[in-house]
Amino acid sequence: MLWPHKPSPEACVLPVDNDPGAVHLGVWTQEEVPWGIRVSDLPGPLLGACSLFQQHCDRIAVPWQEGDDLRLRVMGTLPQARGMGAGAALIRAAVEETRRQGRCMLWCDAREVAFGFYERMGFDFLNDMYHIPDIGPHRTMALDVSLAPQLKI
Ligand SMILES: CC(C)(COP(=O)(O)OP(=O)(O)OC[C@H]1O[C@@H](n2cnc3c(N)ncnc32)[C@H](O)[C@@H]1OP(=O)(O)O)[C@@H](O)C(=O)NCCC(=O)NCCS
Repeated sequence: MLWPHKPSPEACVLPVDNDPGAVHLGVWTQEEVPWGIRVSDLPGPLLGACSLFQQHCDRIAVPWQEGDDLRLRVMGTLPQARGMGAGAALIRAAVEETRRQGRCMLWCDAREVAFGFYERMGFDFLNDMYHIPDIGPHRTMALDVSLAPQLKI
């Protein structure tokens, strides 16, 4: 879904996917887990996913230190499930994981189509637009997790 230009699911594997510090988060339907989201007529129980990597933001100079941040990547929810809170649930879990690791910043390379979503989640823009080949316009965005609400996941 995120990379339709890639030839196969195997080609979507990131070199860092199996890093010891990598964390993969998913959001499921209520049929799968009692705390899941109720959506009917979906192809499977997984509604969305994202990954967190211990990668410092080196695209631009940032006002925090290496080791203080986590990188949010490959964030997406099924088209049929959008607008139902699955994306927000993933961000809440990502915030909690960032805190659990004693870090303070969650950053990402955000696609233009998702700017509004990340802004709604409290992320700020760190730079101007730049282009990633095959994907399109992006801006780097970051969330200071100390400013995010303490929520139960
Ligand atoms: C961006 C994305 C992850 C959002 O997921 P979602 O499951 O629709 O998000 P939610 O339903 O939890 O939305 C949370 C809030 O953000 C808002 N929102 C969601 N997408 C938005 C957008 N593109 N622009 C503005 N606001 C948006 C929702 O209206 C909701 O607001 P509310 O709290 O006032 O109700 C999803 O649209 C997606 O997978 N897009 C395609 C892949 C992509 O671009 N991923 C980002 C890669 S950087």
